[in-house]
Amino acid sequence: MLTDLFDTTPSILQELLIPDFTKRGIKLFVKRDDLIHKDVSGNKWRKLKYNLLQVAQGKYKGIFTFGGAYSNHLVATASAANKAGIPVVGFVRGEELNLNSNETLQKCHQLGMKLIFLTREEYGMRNDKQYIDELKMDYPNYYFVPEGGGNYLGMVGCQEIWNELPKDIDHLFVAQGTTTTSCGLLLGKPNNTKLHVVPVLKGFDVEGTMLQQLRWFVFQDEFPNDLMEDVVVHPNYHFGGYGKYSKELLMFIKEIYTKHQLPLDPVYTGKAFFALLEELKNPQFDNTSIVFVHTGGLQGSKSIEEKEGISLYLNG
Ligand SMILES: Cc1ncc(COP(=O)(O)O)c(C=O)c1O
Repeated sequence: MLTDLFDTTPSILQELLIPDFTKRGIKLFVKRDDLIHKDVSGNKWRKLKYNLLQVAQGKYKGIFTFGGAYSNHLVATASAANKAGIPVVGFVRGEELNLNSNETLQKCHQLGMKLIFLTREEYGMRNDKQYIDELKMDYPNYYFVPEGGGNYLGMVGCQEIWNELPKDIDHLFVAQGTTTTSCGLLLGKPNNTKLHVVPVLKGFDVEGTMLQQLRWFVFQDEFPNDLMEDVVVHPNYHFGGYGKYSKELLMFIKEIYTKHQLPLDPVYTGKAFFALLEELKNPQFDNTSIVFVHTGGLQGSKSIEEKEGISLYLNG
């Protein structure tokens, strides 16, 4: 069955023992969704699951989707579709790129994804209904998955993370891009849990974007507003914006791996985990139970390691 394509049982709940926190009664866990699969890891399987199911039910012939040059989502979609035997087309931002521009694109190609490189202008239309309808004419009966797996079914899949978590969590932290993962988590969360989101985009309209996504789900206006009361936004950990990072962030990632065998990536989870450790210094977190959801993304680290001449994940 397609829903069993990637088993989520490898995603353990890892307890991190950090003396400064344990002595304040803080229990800190990481939900290791990065361990689900090497390519379809983290939130990627969660977001793709019900989308792929649409195709596997035989209503569609294939999938088309969008992503940037280093997109975790493109690799994940290529890998999952390959395993399920579903043809897939990936529209990539940047006409200057080709199949060999980097390891992410090479991998997508090797996994059988047909890559089409778009100008930034054309890529900018990726969410326009008319543009998508035109692509549907070029690829009849292909199912459209938006960039980052950001749609209603993506949220449904992310809600399921709660099935694998204890119910007595006080605070849950997660990195945010399209907000699909955080909206799914918000919809499924127990009443007493606060959801902390760390946007990796500079100046991102968290509230507006989340409310828009939540309205796909629920149609009464007040309900999404009520839900948002349990969201805490940490907007100042983007390190300059999407894809930007500092030496400090890279050294932090290296240190966390050495101390806790926890691999983080510089684009999403490294920033969110940095935010978490900074925020936990606040006494409001004393005697609480915290979960950090590891949303994967480690495939992108290699190009940054090569560019910066640094090894982020070394034992010892
Ligand atoms: C590794 C990783 N973490 C977090 C996110 C953010 O998730 P979302 O776009 O659902 O907010 C993404 C993007 O999909 C990602 O690739």
